[in-house]
Amino acid sequence: MFRVVLLGLLLCFLIALNNVGLAISELQRFQHPTKGDGSLSLLVVGDWGRRGAYNQSEVALQMGIIGEKLDIDLVISTGDNFYEDGLTDVDDPAFYESFTKIYTAPSLQKQWYNVLGNHDYRGDVEAQLSPVLREKDHKWLCLRSFIVETEMAEFVFVDTTPFVDKYFKEKEHTYDWSGISPRDEYLTNLLKEVDSTLKESTAKWKIVVGHHTIKSAGTHSNTVELEQRLLPILEANDVDLYMNGHDHCLEQISSSNSPLQFLTSGGGSKAWRGDVSWWNPDEMKLYYDGQGFMSLYLTGTKVDIVFYNVFGEVLHKWSRSKQLSSAV
Ligand SMILES: *[C@@H]1O[C@H](CO)[C@@H](O)[C@H](O)[C@H]1NC(C)=O
Repeated sequence: MFRVVLLGLLLCFLIALNNVGLAISELQRFQHPTKGDGSLSLLVVGDWGRRGAYNQSEVALQMGIIGEKLDIDLVISTGDNFYEDGLTDVDDPAFYESFTKIYTAPSLQKQWYNVLGNHDYRGDVEAQLSPVLREKDHKWLCLRSFIVETEMAEFVFVDTTPFVDKYFKEKEHTYDWSGISPRDEYLTNLLKEVDSTLKESTAKWKIVVGHHTIKSAGTHSNTVELEQRLLPILEANDVDLYMNGHDHCLEQISSSNSPLQFLTSGGGSKAWRGDVSWWNPDEMKLYYDGQGFMSLYLTGTKVDIVFYNVFGEVLHKWSRSKQLSSAV
């Protein structure tokens, strides 16, 4: 009798544990309204927080002007939000000095959706995720991994830093892994969530955002862990765009074997001039080693991508059309 009760208790405990596990791994969803005509316009910037230095302020100024012109709905940050070592805590003045004080243009006072970069993981990660920052500056929103749904596009933001083996081995820097252990379980759950989200999505455009590159000709080059584990999921689920930072450049690489585009927007401040490796010219649509940012315009049938330099001049444009799926 006693054994049966004990077994029953153990079972309840396991079920409860499992439910908690599921609740934690479920990605948070946000709905973002589109314009009246269903279109969506946004800017993408990465690798920026340097208290205005290295042309961060100049890029911000041009983002404001282009943002106004395009009447943007939101901004995406591809991570490395605060150099060199993220935020110390929610009261770190870097939040004001590198974000609030820099992106002051009226057009940029829209929702920012931020992911974390490896430099952010060198500080207090929970600080960047904290609602306290959202109160200090309402445009700020940063989570590890999450989903933004709009009328015709679904954005899946993926926390890529914990995938990269070398950060777990290197001795020069310490990383705040407090929220992601056990690592294997965290990564497996995350990939499962990303896969099921993309699989269930009926959105016209599927867009995945992470800090790290999947494919890049810049200093950091490809991130092999993501090529091995994330890329097959993107390909299997017909993802249209993968957008990242990490390499401090502006770059577009097309896949030879799928419509997937790899877009690097990591030119928010310090750029890595002259640091580029050879890449198949059939796939390489743009490589620019200075500062700048990217815009994205989406309708139900078309996506337009434009890259801009520090003067707001257009460096490169790319478009793709999709037929309206016949409903009848
Ligand atoms: C700022 O941008 C200009 C124009 O591209 C460039 O000449 C200059 O070197 C940049 N400054 C820094 C600190 O990167």
